[in-house]
Order: sequence, then structure tokens, then C-alpha cells
Amino acid sequence: MKGFATTAIHGASQRGDPHGALRPPLYDSAAFGFADSQQIQLAFEGRKPAHVYSRLSNPTVEAFEQRIWLLSGALGVIAVSSGMAAISNVLMALAGAGSHIVTTRNVFGNTYSLFEQTFKPWGLEVTYVDMADHNALAAAIHDQTRAVFLEVITNPQLQVVDIPEIAHIAHERGVPLVLDGTLTTPYLFRSKDHGVDVEVISSTKYISGGATTIGGLIVDNGSFDWKLNPKLQAQAKRVGPGALLSTLRSEVYRNLGACLSPHNAFLQTLGLETLTLRIDKSCANALTVALWLQKHSRVAAVNYPGLDNFPEREIAQRLFPRGVGGILTLDLASREQCFAFQDALKLVQRATNVNDNKTLVLHPASTIYCEYSPNQKASMGVRDTMLRLSVGIEDVEDIIEDIEQGLATL
Ligand SMILES: Cc1ncc(COP(=O)(O)O)c(C=O)c1O
Repeated sequence: MKGFATTAIHGASQRGDPHGALRPPLYDSAAFGFADSQQIQLAFEGRKPAHVYSRLSNPTVEAFEQRIWLLSGALGVIAVSSGMAAISNVLMALAGAGSHIVTTRNVFGNTYSLFEQTFKPWGLEVTYVDMADHNALAAAIHDQTRAVFLEVITNPQLQVVDIPEIAHIAHERGVPLVLDGTLTTPYLFRSKDHGVDVEVISSTKYISGGATTIGGLIVDNGSFDWKLNPKLQAQAKRVGPGALLSTLRSEVYRNLGACLSPHNAFLQTLGLETLTLRIDKSCANALTVALWLQKHSRVAAVNYPGLDNFPEREIAQRLFPRGVGGILTLDLASREQCFAFQDALKLVQRATNVNDNKTLVLHPASTIYCEYSPNQKASMGVRDTMLRLSVGIEDVEDIIEDIEQGLATL
């Protein structure tokens, strides 16, 4: 296989476009026509591969899926409408009322909300553990557990844990590991090589190439025996390793309707082509900014997995040798100082989202986590004094100059 950057740009091959177009064309069409009744019947029965309706599949979306498939080395990929759709589709396919997942409170705020506010009332039991506590994780898994779920580098706590060891603990108990790989993408972390069974990604972030569109990806690495999952057992006996993906295609993904639009797939495939350049630059910029912030008297603490004093530095170096991403957090003296600093920024944008081309700042406690009580925020590692900085790909001197003038106003 060619290198990551080459594959991200070229895909598998230059398939013959009638006009020689170098870019996969955009099929902005809801439905596809058939020559006769038999052809459309065969397509509906799945006996003849064909696109019939873009909620189920679409050639432009398929081209995007194929490129991620090549880059991840996975069994198969399904692109969906958002990162949240990727998480909900996978967990709804694996688990349901009366069953259970093990996860951690150190997750993206809306993911926590999906578990607490959406899944729990539908009867899914959720246990939160500290993923660094392997005994607690092992003890939390029981007969009804259908998945262990965690984030690769947690947002915004930036916790890094020993993913291969967690995979081992889950597998010993017959449970798959589902990982949210949004902050790394397959470029910084090829989840298949570290025991992850299913990876979900918000392609809104690094992959979209500048935050043009919302999108998500489901990546089945093909490592888990789906016969061990009661919901997928029958399908696994019929189709083997493709049981999760085929259940999603023919049931959960199809019925929930959270498909990626062809237009967004087109833009995200374009974004993918410059992924390595942008990730390398944002990782380098984030490290430079983190080192600079560490020396500033107004900054109480800086958290970035690339710093020598990062608590899980050894694991971060082992798992992410190409870089640890573009997100860091800094603590100031108070919430008031955080607001004053944010308001003084001129280049850095006050915005949610991460891994944009632009540097973004956010006060998580008053935004993504505003619906939670102080105790809940504390249990999720979200402090009132903490700002999240998603470092972009601008000239790093300009980012630092803006931060410096912002801190000088305090
Ligand atoms: C780690 C992580 N997972 C999932 C999501 C949700 O992605 P989306 O906004 O594409 O639904 C986000 C969004 O910020 C995220 O940071």
C-alpha cells in the first residue's frame, strides 16, 4: 500500500470517469433509476449491488467511505451525518433495553448527554468508570455488557489511557471496544493496530478540512466475533464478520436516516486530501503554544499530551508517535479571567468545534457543559477556570501574539 498522504489523495485507483474528471463526481441525486422491474427488485433484495436511494447509499458517499476504508485498513466503513450519528448508530446496533455499556465521564459533553438523556430512558444501563483504573473497568463488565466505549484522547479533559490494555480487558470478557477516534483520525492513530474493534469519528473536525460540513464515520476493524453479541448473533451466523456493518446498512442506519449528504461527502473527500499537512501543522503549532503558555505567569496550568509533564506522557508517546493532536487546555485564576481573556482575543475565534484550520477558544463549563451542575462538571473534569484551545494552522507567531495581548489585558 502507498503512504497515507498518497492514499488520502488518490484513493484506490483512477477509475474511468467518462470525462476524465480527476475528482470523484458529485451525485447529488436522491434516487436512481433502473432499466426494468427485475433489476430494481434484485437491487432491493440485495442480490445485485446498486444504489437505489441516497439514504441507503450513494456513489459520492461511497467514494468517501472507500478512501477511509483504505486509510484505516478496516473491514468496512459507513459514513453518516455527524459524529453523534456514528456513536448512536453503533451503540443502537450493539445494545438496547436491558443491556449495558461501560464508559467514562471523560467524554465529549453531547456524548455524555446521549447516554444520560437519550439512552438511559430507553432502558440502556450505563456504568461510568475511570478508564485508567483497570480493575474498576474489569469489575464493571458483566453478562449484559455490550460495549466498552471511550475516546482516544478525551475532549476536553485530554486524558490518555492504555487503549491496547483496555481492549485486552474487554476482549477477555467477550465485549468489543468502541473508540471515538475524532481527535486523532487514522493518521495519528490506526485503531486496528491497537485492539479497537469499532472506531467512530466526527469527520466534522480534522477530516472535513476546515470545518466546512458536519459528518461522521463508522469504521469496523473486523476484529470482533459478532456471534458473541446477542443482537448480532443470527446475522453473524449468516454473513460472518460483516454482521455489524450489514445490520447497520439494512436496519439501524437505514431506519434512523442519519445519512451523509452527497454534497458533504464531496467536500469531506476534498478535505481528506490535505489531512496530513493540516494535522502535522496543528500538532506542531499546539506544542509551540503549549510550551509558550507554560512559561506565562498568568497561566496557572497547561494540559497538552505533548508536554513532558503530561501525566500519561509515556502512553501518549507510545500510542501517538506522529503527534498528539491540536487541542490543549489552560487554566487561569477564575471564570472571570477566562471570559476577559476570551473577549480580548482578536485572531483566535470564540467558537465551539475543534480541529478547524482556525485557532478556536472555548470555555467548556459555560458552553458545552452549561446544562450540568457544578458536581457533575467536577466529575467530568470540567473546571470553571479552564479554557480549551484548539490550535489551528495559522502562522504560530500570530497565534502567540494574539494570546499574549489577550493575557496582557488581565
Ligand atoms: C470527541 C468528539 N466526538 C464526537 C463529537 C460529535 O461530533 P459531531 O459534532 O460531528 O456530531 C465531537 C464534537 O465536538 C467530539 O469532539
